[in-house]
Parts: sequence; C-alpha cells; structure tokens
Amino acid sequence: MSKKVEGFSKLSKAEKINWITQMHFEDIPKAKEMLSSYNHINEKTQNLHDEFIENSIANFYLPLAVAPNFLINGKEYTLPMAIEESSVVAAACKSAKFWASRGGFKTQIIGTQKTGQVHFLFEGKTAHLLSFFEEKKQMLIDSTSSLTLNMRRRGGGILDIQLKDRSDLIENYYQLHLSFKTVDSMGGNFINSCLEQIAKTLQSLAEDHKAFLKEQLSIEVIMSILSNYVPQCLVQAEVRCPVGKLEVANQMSGMQFAEKFIQALEIAKKEPYRAVTHNKGIMNGIDAVVIATGNDFRAVEAGVHSYAAREGVYSSLSHAFLEGDEFVFRLKLPLSIGTVGGLTQLHPMVKWSMELLGNPNAKNLMEIIAVAGLAQNFAAVGSLITSGIQKGHMKMHLLNILNQKQARDDQKEKALEFFKTNTVTFKAVTDFLKSNP
Ligand code: MEV
Repeated sequence: MSKKVEGFSKLSKAEKINWITQMHFEDIPKAKEMLSSYNHINEKTQNLHDEFIENSIANFYLPLAVAPNFLINGKEYTLPMAIEESSVVAAACKSAKFWASRGGFKTQIIGTQKTGQVHFLFEGKTAHLLSFFEEKKQMLIDSTSSLTLNMRRRGGGILDIQLKDRSDLIENYYQLHLSFKTVDSMGGNFINSCLEQIAKTLQSLAEDHKAFLKEQLSIEVIMSILSNYVPQCLVQAEVRCPVGKLEVANQMSGMQFAEKFIQALEIAKKEPYRAVTHNKGIMNGIDAVVIATGNDFRAVEAGVHSYAAREGVYSSLSHAFLEGDEFVFRLKLPLSIGTVGGLTQLHPMVKWSMELLGNPNAKNLMEIIAVAGLAQNFAAVGSLITSGIQKGHMKMHLLNILNQKQARDDQKEKALEFFKTNTVTFKAVTDFLKSNP
C-alpha cells in the first residue's frame, strides 16, 4: 500500500495520528498510547506546543537539569541545561565548583553585530552599479523605516549597508551586505524582513533608473537572508588562578596539570580531528543552555563552527596559557541569541529558565552561555589528561544501562553501590544483574 498522502497538514491531530499509526505501525493501539503518554496533562500547554510547528503529534522530551555554583563576574548563578548526554551536567557542576573557589568566571562582550545579505545578479558595468548604489543607499534604508521603528527605539536597527562586488566568485554576482544591531532579540525575523524590503526597493529603483533603462539592464534578486556567520557577535569567557591552585588530589602537581592541559589545547589548536571533538565538548555546555533558554541551537552551532574554521583550518575555540605564575583558560566564540521574541515569551519552561537566570538581557545571556562552554571544556580536558573520560562517563551511563535492562529499584541501588569500585561496561552490568536476580 502506498504511503503517500495529500493534504496531511490539514488533518486534525487525531486524524494525523490515525493515519500515521495505521500506515507505519504493527501494534496500532500501542503506538497511539506511546504518543498520548507524551502529551502534556494541561490541555492549554499541549495546544501551545502543538502550535509551535506543523504536523505536531506529541512532545519529545529532553531532561532539564540545573547546574549550581557558577560564579560569573562576581554574581552567583544556577544554570538551566536541557541535554540528554549523561555526564555533561555533572561535569559542568564540578567545573563550576572548582572555579567558584578560584575567583570564578570573568566575561567580556566583544561585539553584538549581525549580518544579512541581498544576493543579486547585474550584467552591466560595476562602476555604474556602484554609482547607482551610492545615489540610492539612503532610499534603500529609508524604505525599511516602518519595520525598524521599534527596534530603533530600543537602540538597534540597521548599522550599515555596503555593495559588494562578488563577480570574482560568480559571473555578475553582487551583494548588499548589511550589518544590524538587534539589542535583546536574536533578530532573525527583523533582519529578514528588512532584507526582503530592501531587495524589493532595490529592484524597483533599478527598474526606474534611466541609465539602466537605456541599456535594458536590470537587477535580478536571487535571495535575501541573514547570515548565521556572526564573527562580530562575539563573547569571551575566562578563568585564571595561580598554577599551584590547580593541583589534582594525589595525581599531579599544579604545574604538571597546567603543562599537560596547555599541551592538550595546543593539539586542539593545530589538529582538526582533535579540534572538532574538543569544540564538541564546548558545545555540550553551550547547546544545553541555548536550548533551555529557547534559542536556536542550529544557528549557534553553524556560527560557532564556521568561526572555528575562519582561518582556513578548523581549530580550537579555547586557549590556555601561563601568564606569570597564573594559568589562564579562555574561550572566545560568536553567539547570536536573544532574550525577547521567538520562543522566549512562549515556552513555559523557557520562561522558567530565564527567571532562574534572573531574566538576563541578551548580552548577559551570551556571557552565561559562553561560561557554560568554558566550564564544560575545562571538565572534559581535565578528565582526558588525568583519569580519562570513560571513568566518569560510564558511571553516569550506568543508570541508562540499568534502565535499558529494566532493572528494579532494589537492583539499581545494589548496582550503584557495586560499581562505585568496579568498572562499568555493558557486559559487567548485564552480568551483575544476572547474579543479582
Ligand atoms: C563528549 O561528549 C565530549 C568530549 O569528547 C569532549 C572532548 O574530547 O574534549 C569528552
């Protein structure tokens, strides 16, 4: 039987569930029961979730955890983290506690500029296009004035517009390259609306431009869209302490730890296979807070990784070095996020997370998120150069294995005790459950 369907989005939620379960599942009541068990008990909340996206049929949960003891610029925070990976929150907590007693995290906003582009083709002379652009530049900006009014009142808006000749890349290819300040919103809708208006104005001004008319020249707009490459929307987070205070109990002196840590960072700086994994560890912290605060983690990921490759080789986002007798560990990365608009006002758990953080503005949230990344990176590299990652990781994974094996509560309790001193592997847990029926 064909599984093609017409007008699926127009079906009611119940009709969608009927169709999908009948078409794709052996045990239809069981498949339906699974979906409904993930519905929110409060109908209003469920409706809200259903309206976030098209064709919604249930919810897909991630655990929300909190990581206390973060000292950031002298202020104490508990971070909300939405993530499924078992060891991430424990690592963040460990790192937060470690640095809270060593001065805490310090941050700095380096820039908040965002970019958008109108991509178009023009077959005439570049010099003619340039003089047309110079003449019409203000009109292009003015055509967005009703769209930008509120943003300008809040201190943002269009900062600059440039014409870029990119015919070195593609024949007749040009761009309007715009920079924006979007204050506390991520600004996606704002930027795209401005760009689409500017593209329309550009095209119609070109249609009426005598010099172009004479030569039958026109502007063909290909697309107008923001860029998720935001190297001017940057934040830095840092920790530092005297080398002696890095001592790891019974394992290494502070200096040994610092030297090995710096060496590990040097490898991540120079070697892309390692750099990618190193940065993935940073993103474990970043994404967890980005998701909990209702921001677009795909945009953040795209921006961060492209920034990591900005010099032509993919490299570490964090750096460690000695300054006098101090160990310094620093993370600089682009973060285009918002605290107003989008999901932030809609998702009840996002509102909750924002309140937990003291309702930060976008700059504060950039700082908090960067700290989550630095903390995570410190914990991961710290483990890698000492005990190795698996010890902590598998301890946290133990519960997942026990749940997968459908262990009873009493078996879980015994297993947690047993594996305090024994190595966790899938086989070891299976054997343990067999011998403790
Ligand atoms: C695992 O999710 C993250 C790490 O691989 C990061 C790293 O290697 O630095 C542990």
